[in-house]
Amino acid sequence: MTHKLYIGTNTKMFQTGNEAEAYIRRMDELIDDIRDRLEFFFIPSYTSLERTAKAVGDRIRIGAQNMAWEDRGQFTGEISPLMLEEIGVRFVLIGHSERRHVFRETDKDEARKIRCAADHGFTSLLCVGETAEQKDRGLAAESVVEQLNLSAGTLSPEEVSGKLWIAYEPVWAIGTAGVPAGASYAEDMHGAIRTALTEMFGAYGKDIPILYGGSVNPSNAADIIARRGIDGLFIGRSAWDPERFDSIIREVLPIFESRSE
Ligand code: PGA
Repeated sequence: MTHKLYIGTNTKMFQTGNEAEAYIRRMDELIDDIRDRLEFFFIPSYTSLERTAKAVGDRIRIGAQNMAWEDRGQFTGEISPLMLEEIGVRFVLIGHSERRHVFRETDKDEARKIRCAADHGFTSLLCVGETAEQKDRGLAAESVVEQLNLSAGTLSPEEVSGKLWIAYEPVWAIGTAGVPAGASYAEDMHGAIRTALTEMFGAYGKDIPILYGGSVNPSNAADIIARRGIDGLFIGRSAWDPERFDSIIREVLPIFESRSE
């Protein structure tokens, strides 16, 4: 079976609407000859969703960076799944490290969002990752498995089928202060996540894509994607220049496709 490479970017709070649209139009051109081999996705700010979705149609999957867990209510500043659905967005990032650590979201919050996304038939990209302290105490795998159970434990096997993606993003590896994880460390963590997903969802857990994220860059992307059990890459800074991102994709794609698993 040929698997597609999962690859995409979240632009955090960086690109304006004009910038996001120019960026995604360029990416759309650049990946045109390889798009069938990719599950390519783009997660811009809310105000860029509608225009970027219009710009690329169904050629690129567009996702929201966050979502409320209710359809309507007294939640000033939040965005409802109904609002996303209305503009054709049915893919949502849940529990990114910056949501958890800057905005103090808890696993309970992520669980409500994951539940709500599943109720709407959305696909969720759920982020999990240990802190530096958890890693130093030897609790990395345990903490990540706990996050998975607490955040996605209410989903049924049928609900996760094609609708749940995981990004393993160690907190200490993300962003300008981040140190990228070594490839073999990432491989081990992906193995622990796969075991947990299989325990949670049986055979369905085997098909959930697990992406690595956290300071992926042109010098480590190939090493990471060469590792077993890493189904794709979730990239921040190194993806925000289209040519640079395209060259990473073209470097890792044949490595991914030639893996023996
Ligand atoms: P980074 O971001 O690649 O810039 O570290 C990754 C992320 O936050 O998902």
